[in-house]
Amino acid sequence: MSGIKVCVFDAYGTLFDVAAAARALAAEPGREAFASVWQQVAADWRVKQLSYSWLRAVAGDHCDFWQVTCDALDWALDRAAMAEPDLREALLGLYWTLDAYPEVPEMLAALKGAGLQTAILSNGSPEMLKGAVESAGISPLLDAVLSVEDVGVFKPDARVYDMVGARFGCTREEVLFVSSNGWDAAFGAAYGFDTLWVNRAGEPMDRLSGRPGRVADDLTGVPVLAGVV
Ligand code: LAC
Repeated sequence: MSGIKVCVFDAYGTLFDVAAAARALAAEPGREAFASVWQQVAADWRVKQLSYSWLRAVAGDHCDFWQVTCDALDWALDRAAMAEPDLREALLGLYWTLDAYPEVPEMLAALKGAGLQTAILSNGSPEMLKGAVESAGISPLLDAVLSVEDVGVFKPDARVYDMVGARFGCTREEVLFVSSNGWDAAFGAAYGFDTLWVNRAGEPMDRLSGRPGRVADDLTGVPVLAGVV
């Protein structure tokens, strides 16, 4: 894979470890009731968050990702019979104070050191992404943080992927697109990006029109795939 000029990353689950934050909350003293159900709540929350984003995109009924994230959590807490305001606030607060996966700073620094450009391309609202990027301390390592709010529709609408070429003036083939969401990597590949699916959970490949060009367990190999080491 050569000729890559821009490395573009999905945010939640790809650069930022949302599950670890929910797990840490479950381990706090006084959270025993949540600790017994947190994995189901976290899974329901993520599934509903994504399905609400797709449904709103298909229906032309856009709202920002913060609204979708709140709505999805409310559904998940209802299902677990745990609709408690303080738990809701604590879980939502995690989105503003996320850690990046441990390999992220070194990986981004290697790309920047080799002269590549780097960006986030995410469903997240500009405010959510600003909070996460600052909390993880990776702001100086990113040339752009692109939010779908600029086009008013969620992934995988092609108008979202168009934002990369519009921002960097590059061709699709000059982009390495990295996502932990199999469907996002698949649509990125169908769009014409070089793609890496970060499959940390060892999930099966999504059956969609595109197939990610590469699959890896984590982000450490990105500089090699981008041709800079
Ligand atoms: C994002 C979601 C899909 O950051 O993870 O766009």
